[in-house]
Amino acid sequence: MRKETRDPHGAARLSVAPMMDWTDRHCRVLHRTISRRALLYTEMVTAPALVRGDARHLLRFDPVEHPVALQLGGSDPAELAAAARMGADEGYDEINLNVGCPSDRVQSGMIGAVLMRHPALVADCVAAMAAAVDVPVTVKCRIGVDDQDPLEVLPDFLETMKAAGVGRMTIHARKAWLQGLSPKENREVPPLDYPLVHRMKRAFPDLHLSVNGGVVSLQAVEEHLEAGMDGVMVGRAAYHQPMDILGDADRRVFGCDRPALAPVEVVLAMLPHIDRHLREGGRLAQVTRHMLGLFAGRPGARHWRRILSEGAHRPGADRRLVLDALSAVQGMAA
Ligand SMILES: Cc1cc2nc3c(=O)[nH]c(=O)nc-3n(C[C@H](O)[C@H](O)[C@H](O)COP(=O)(O)O)c2cc1C
Repeated sequence: MRKETRDPHGAARLSVAPMMDWTDRHCRVLHRTISRRALLYTEMVTAPALVRGDARHLLRFDPVEHPVALQLGGSDPAELAAAARMGADEGYDEINLNVGCPSDRVQSGMIGAVLMRHPALVADCVAAMAAAVDVPVTVKCRIGVDDQDPLEVLPDFLETMKAAGVGRMTIHARKAWLQGLSPKENREVPPLDYPLVHRMKRAFPDLHLSVNGGVVSLQAVEEHLEAGMDGVMVGRAAYHQPMDILGDADRRVFGCDRPALAPVEVVLAMLPHIDRHLREGGRLAQVTRHMLGLFAGRPGARHWRRILSEGAHRPGADRRLVLDALSAVQGMAA
């Protein structure tokens, strides 16, 4: 598969991970305001919810979000193909299959990390999805689950995905333990194995591979790229400290001339989105809850968080609260 078809926008050098309840469309508009280039993922949407349920509204996104990837959960090839088609019709730039999420709720539906045990089924799923859409179909997986030996299962899994036509994958560099750990613990307790993921990149030179897990600085992103990875996916750090991960990414990761925006400029650039959301009947907190980390590690961060978290739920709260919080931050910085 040619490079352009694996990563047509060149955006996968740095991506923001799919995170349930976090990377909704407001969060993605914020991240897009900070970086014009990074690839953004939706929260996981399950194929049954889309195809059998009434979840079409979950596909909504703002055109400014491009390039944006829809993450699907499921294990029924026909249903995933139908869901992928709905996503592609809606305009998503990529459809991703979740083979990494360890929660009990999704395991019972054969969704997420449990599928690491069923590579042939995953191959059927991605082949059906790829046949249904023109955009890239990608996979996000773990290095293994439970007592699997990653050294054995991961190369097999990648080989099977490659044979099924997948050109790009993201590997969360730790196992998922499906019994006894909460989803949160499964993002912290199983040890990270970056050398294994780097080794997979050397073993599969024509697969576009991104590493994920525990990356908390732009410097760490650069180090993985220098070590040969095609891309790096960042989750929690991009959410909690978006300026530190995305602020200078267009220049440092994508080689653009564009100078980094200051957090204040990001806040001002978000105001039209906030106004529009409120005009449509939405609430301020639905947007500002994703903006709490904008000043993380900078003077005034505590004031910013406090003013927004205390005020944004109040009836009638609007951009004036955001500007008040901004004045408080600027007062601190002066
Ligand atoms: C709140 C939250 C929700 C998540 N939801 C998803 C999800 O829907 N799909 C998925 O593949 N991974 C999900 N993840 C896992 C992340 O995509 C990522 O793999 C994980 O957080 C490790 O990356 P990090 O150390 O950079 O955060 C979620 C993580 C968090 C913190």
